[in-house]
Amino acid sequence: MSVSADLLIVRNQTRRQRYNQKQQTAQKNPISICAVNFGCDENLGYLIRAAACFGAECLHVIGNLPDRAYLIPVSGSLIDYVDIIQHANPHDFLAWTRQHDVTVMSAEIADGSTSMYDVEFDFGRKTCVVVGNENTGVPAEILHNSKILHIPMPGVGFCLNTAQTANIILYEFNRQLNERVQREYLCVG
Ligand SMILES: C[S@@+](CC[C@H](N)C(=O)[O-])C[C@H]1O[C@@H](n2cnc3c(N)ncnc32)[C@H](O)[C@@H]1O
Repeated sequence: MSVSADLLIVRNQTRRQRYNQKQQTAQKNPISICAVNFGCDENLGYLIRAAACFGAECLHVIGNLPDRAYLIPVSGSLIDYVDIIQHANPHDFLAWTRQHDVTVMSAEIADGSTSMYDVEFDFGRKTCVVVGNENTGVPAEILHNSKILHIPMPGVGFCLNTAQTANIILYEFNRQLNERVQREYLCVG
């Protein structure tokens, strides 16, 4: 099928039809994101959208979830395509990750944190990256039990939006995963 015929079909389909079609070949990668009690519900919508686009395995939410009806438009109608696991508090979340053998990383600007430029993801294990509340950041209990990474920011600003932080990390995870797949393919070939 030509590209233009392909585009025509996409234009004639509803969003949900397009998602259902893409879901048949969509990838799920060994990464998830954890949101900490976001103050702004829109950020959770953006996170759901990022998780769906980048093939995150699931989304963890510590604290309350807004109404599904609110999340439909802000997530680009992707709320039904991402598994959400809710935890009452940071302690329960950490217990869950231990039970399920998941490596926890925190995105935070903190003394001694590792630059994103130096982070190498371990694809042999599942990783969950925690992004913090808009005002209070990542809870201390999680920071003390995780590897902390920061995204270098050479500009005048001090802090990224929490959902945008997740987007950058998911992008970098996929970039490294793709590089690894290419390398293995070249070795086999
Ligand atoms: C707006 S910041 C909140 C910062 C909070 N006021 C504090 O001082 O802890 C929200 C979240 O975005 C993430 N974040 C923002 N900029 C970041 C960066 N450059 N590197 C890593 N995480 C970042 C962190 O997870 C942070 O908790």
